[in-house]
Amino acid sequence: MSGENTVLKENVFINKEEKKSFESRQDNNSKHNDHKGHPNKDEREIKILAKNVTRTFTVKNRGQKGVKEFVAIKDINLEIRAGEFITLVGPSGCGKSTFLDILSGLSKPTSGELYIDGKLVTGPALDRGIVLQGYALFPWRNVRKNIEYGLELKKIPKKQRREISQEFIDLVGLTGFEDRYIHELSGGMRQRVAIARALAYNPEVLLMDEPFAAVDAQTRETMQEELLRIWEKTNKTIVFITHSIEEAVFLADRVAVLSANPGSIKEIINVDLPRPRKLGDVRNSPDFNWLSHKVWELLHNVENKNETNVINESRNIAEEISPTVDL
Ligand SMILES: Nc1ncnc2c1ncn2[C@@H]1O[C@H](COP(=O)(O)OP(=O)(O)OP(=O)(O)O)[C@@H](O)[C@H]1O
Ligand SMILES: [Mg+2]
Repeated sequence: MSGENTVLKENVFINKEEKKSFESRQDNNSKHNDHKGHPNKDEREIKILAKNVTRTFTVKNRGQKGVKEFVAIKDINLEIRAGEFITLVGPSGCGKSTFLDILSGLSKPTSGELYIDGKLVTGPALDRGIVLQGYALFPWRNVRKNIEYGLELKKIPKKQRREISQEFIDLVGLTGFEDRYIHELSGGMRQRVAIARALAYNPEVLLMDEPFAAVDAQTRETMQEELLRIWEKTNKTIVFITHSIEEAVFLADRVAVLSANPGSIKEIINVDLPRPRKLGDVRNSPDFNWLSHKVWELLHNVENKNETNVINESRNIAEEISPTVDL
């Protein structure tokens, strides 16, 4: 049997003591200094504070006359520390984008409050870089001009704008496409312009809604590692939505798992994997596989099942993680 399979088997057939020790490390996580040598998470200032954030939409009452209120997210309470990387996962339609839109200031909560640096969020601002689902790029601007948009708002001189935009064009692999207009790009290329635009003006908070969903697998892995590199260098606070469990665990300090109807936070998992992280190394780590398994369980509501079921479900997640695994 290969070493990789052994690792997966250890992870899948984790016994109660191993599980307990792992979980106690999760509980103690906040007592340690973080990977960057910064004060531990509890001592860092709160960058983002969501208090009972609720958002309802008025929708047509199906089959009947009139309208009704639909609760998209309800009572989301969340503290995000400065410099933290948090990922949000949850079933489609559970309200992840709704929450991120509120964080960005593009929409307002129906009730509850949201604070950034202790100030109530009342609209969009340049302290937040946003990569939304569906690009939101300017079709009348070329790639370079799209990326320079935030720099223009910040009144950065032209020469410096050029240098910065080129750095991020190169970073996202769009060298040679600087003069193309948006309709002349593929979906993945558009997404990369959106990422470069958000990174280029160096916001303190980066809000990313499935930013890598439309890029090919190889570019995605490169961009995940690049994003971590930039984050570690600049100490940004990042809120990142993804449908990929692997991506969520690989990137995050914490993974917030949301549930639907109405959208709310089900559980937050601490990810105490050492940094800097390299996908190739992390994928082979039993802790990574266990964390992915845990998130998967939460998403599939299997945490309360009996042990036999958990083992069977674990086999499935192991197969998902590595379809070739010999179980
Ligand atoms: N403007 C709107 N009017 C009415 N309902 C809306 C509106 N925007 C979102 N919703 C509803 O709110 C719920 C949450 O939507 P949201 O886009 O936040 O989900 P999501 O978790 O981001 O899903 P996905 O993973 O598919 O992107 C969905 O049921 C959606 O239909
Ligand atoms: Mg969404």
